[in-house]
Amino acid sequence: MFALLAFVSACGDKKTEKSVEDSSKIAVYTEMEAELTAPPNVPAPVGNRVAKKLKVNMEILEEEGEMTDGVKYVYWTFGGSVPGSFIRTRVGDEVEFHLKNHPDNKLPHNIDLHAVTGPGGGATSSFVAPGHEAQFSFKVLNPGLYVYHCATAPVGMHIANGMYGLILVEPEGGLPKVDKEYYVMQGDFYTKGENGERGLQPFDMQKAVDEDADYVVFNGKVGSMTGDNALTAKVGETIRLFVGNGGPNLVSSFHVIGEIFDVVRVEGGSLENKNVQTTLIPAGGAAIVEFKVDVPGTFILVDHSIFRAFNKGALAMLKVEGEENKGIYSGKEKEGIYHPEGGAIQTMPQGKKVPAEVASSLKEKIAFGKTSYMQTCFACHQAEGQGIPGAFPPLAKSDYLNADVDRAIDIILNGKTGEIKVNGQTYNSVMTRQNLTDEEVANVLTYVYNSWGNSKKTVTATMVKNRRNGGH
Ligand code: CU
Repeated sequence: MFALLAFVSACGDKKTEKSVEDSSKIAVYTEMEAELTAPPNVPAPVGNRVAKKLKVNMEILEEEGEMTDGVKYVYWTFGGSVPGSFIRTRVGDEVEFHLKNHPDNKLPHNIDLHAVTGPGGGATSSFVAPGHEAQFSFKVLNPGLYVYHCATAPVGMHIANGMYGLILVEPEGGLPKVDKEYYVMQGDFYTKGENGERGLQPFDMQKAVDEDADYVVFNGKVGSMTGDNALTAKVGETIRLFVGNGGPNLVSSFHVIGEIFDVVRVEGGSLENKNVQTTLIPAGGAAIVEFKVDVPGTFILVDHSIFRAFNKGALAMLKVEGEENKGIYSGKEKEGIYHPEGGAIQTMPQGKKVPAEVASSLKEKIAFGKTSYMQTCFACHQAEGQGIPGAFPPLAKSDYLNADVDRAIDIILNGKTGEIKVNGQTYNSVMTRQNLTDEEVANVLTYVYNSWGNSKKTVTATMVKNRRNGGH
């Protein structure tokens, strides 16, 4: 971490940054084709190269992709990826932009690059129908990391379908050298079906207008950089992330769990902030974050508006390999049982004095049970007994539940830890002992057994009492 800071401050000589007027006078002598990359990769650094005429050949493709397992979406893309191809330039370059709209596409498009000084950021000069190519040029004046996007009406819809990406303008002499660079861009998506609803999902204009996103993701889909696709690094390396936010609507609170950004180039501009936990990335904006990885492990990139991360997809991984450094992070040193009351598993603290009403019918029993369920069980097992994948097992159509009533009673009375298998899925969470009367346990279990396709058993207070007293 400190090495990077020292390096950055040594190189951060403010005198080298040219004024816009100076940049406009930088002469270009030769011509080159821009390297374009799909995320999470970026083209090679500009380094010390002189300003050139830089030809960018960008092809627009409308194509079906996968938002998440079983959910298809027709993305509109710059270069075949979401976000679109990364463009890397330097101050003084003269970019000759060729925008090609593939003949199989259905719609006209254009491009607005925030790095362009000129009307519409190029949009007015680049409007192009399927099967056509538009060309325009611009002089790159301001260093920084900029968003580009389609600006064809309805603009929101074109952006919502994935038409955005990043263009980097390096200062004279380039950015300080780092070991790894990656391209990460957030976007929010709006589908006719709810999150996870299978099949080909069309865009939902009303949800987009309401800013009610079904998916909030990095690099165009859920899990684009998790598991085998995770970003990678080695202990001791310095990492630079070019982070953009295409929106169309949501602002990102970008955070890497277990890391501190040594340097943030705020909003992608020239201001450097240091020692930052979470950086705000506006829709249509960007940031450059840099950090050294000091210890091995999996570091999780999130939008810290945290339900977006764990429920809508805004989660990626950086896997760091190498030697442990126990001086920086010990790992778990000890684990024991904490038992203030002498029990291995804690009870939910909630004084219970008033005995529960005794139900006069099965219908009433189920109604009372439902009330207890909504107070006690709902947060983990959810309204329809569906549970939370990977965390809390389902009660709906649960083979584990239906197989053994006594076991179900015992779990409510005593709590449960350790691995269990429910409907083929393994769960390893903690359920605390519930502070309920015999009558309440009987009612809540009767409610659960008579709901969501379960086996319709009736549980009585006597059955619960017997279990409480150590079995039959
Ligand atoms: Cu478009």
